[in-house]
Amino acid sequence: MFILGIETSCDETAAAVVSDVGERIRANIVLSQLAEHRPYGGIVPEVAARAHLDHLDGIIARALAAAGIGMGDLAGVAATAGPGLIGGVFVGVMEAKAIALARHIPFMAVNHLEGHALSPRLEAPLDFPYLLLLVSGGHCQLLVVEGVGRYRRLGTTIDDAVGEAFDKGAKLLGLGYPGGPAIERLALTGDGARFPLPRPLLGRPGCDFSFSGLKTALGRQAASLADAAGALAPRDVADLAASLQAAIGDCLIDRAAQAIALLRASWPAAKSLVVAGGVAANAALRRRLAALAAGRGLAFRAPPPSLCTDNGAMIAWAGLERLRLGLVDGLDFAPRPRWPLDPAAAPARGAGVKA
Ligand code: KG4
Ligand code: ZN
Repeated sequence: MFILGIETSCDETAAAVVSDVGERIRANIVLSQLAEHRPYGGIVPEVAARAHLDHLDGIIARALAAAGIGMGDLAGVAATAGPGLIGGVFVGVMEAKAIALARHIPFMAVNHLEGHALSPRLEAPLDFPYLLLLVSGGHCQLLVVEGVGRYRRLGTTIDDAVGEAFDKGAKLLGLGYPGGPAIERLALTGDGARFPLPRPLLGRPGCDFSFSGLKTALGRQAASLADAAGALAPRDVADLAASLQAAIGDCLIDRAAQAIALLRASWPAAKSLVVAGGVAANAALRRRLAALAAGRGLAFRAPPPSLCTDNGAMIAWAGLERLRLGLVDGLDFAPRPRWPLDPAAAPARGAGVKA
């Protein structure tokens, strides 16, 4: 069975075809809108929605062609239906509903976070339950994935998402967007121990995260090093990038260790620590998490970097998993700008909380 997946919740227009037999990913086309947003220095929701509208038909046609199939071969169509920039989400959902209606095939409204959460199962079998560190541009959460559609949130950020910490840090250092890859590259040549940036919530009870103080401290440190024209020496930029990545890594490892203790107590059957979302592409972080898991007797799993950042394959795969369980949605499903994976979790306090 072939499933088409559509992703339009942020600044990537993406479509993919996955199959439940043989090669799982038959096509995975991601078109970045970086050029469209560059003049504005950030993502402009209206610009994103219009770009999705302009490009989505062509991206879907390319995905089907790359998979060697036609619309008539599809067993279902899935689209990100939230959370995200609502204009873009509408574009993807309307397209998916139109295909479902015209082709008389099921439509699956996929939670973008569920796409990330189930993405490791796309590559190889992975049993439920597992502990998930979900780290992206809009989210930073620790969740127990009990099954498809069944999530228990152990912790979340009380201010910025971790990807935002990378992106805002990179902006402060005069690096481009997205900041994560730029920080990671520079950190390779920098001294991560040079600047003692804060580690918010480190050692505190619970599994929540906080990153906004880190960004403020980085900005102050950078300002103290800048010359009269506000410029930083390349050595300082590299050391600041490495120090930021080290501090973020320490926070994530500390919180994940707390979550593993909770997992042990309440989900003894869980055998794996999984990291997913755009920040999971970071090799230094993956190494540290792998070491943490090994030290606690857990298997460690991370999707390949191309499946960590936003893509259609993870949405198609979540759609396939849902279809297999009969979790199909009606064409009246309304896109959701906010859509927590664990509706029972108490809303996090603090500014800028996305879920
Ligand atoms: O999952 P994603 O593509 O989009 C959201 O759902 O938010 O995540 C994008 C985020 C951006 O903040 C980007 O800077 C970060 O992932 N990111 C990275 C790396 N690659 C992407 N952060 C750290 N290291 C990386 N290599
Ligand atoms: Zn994402």
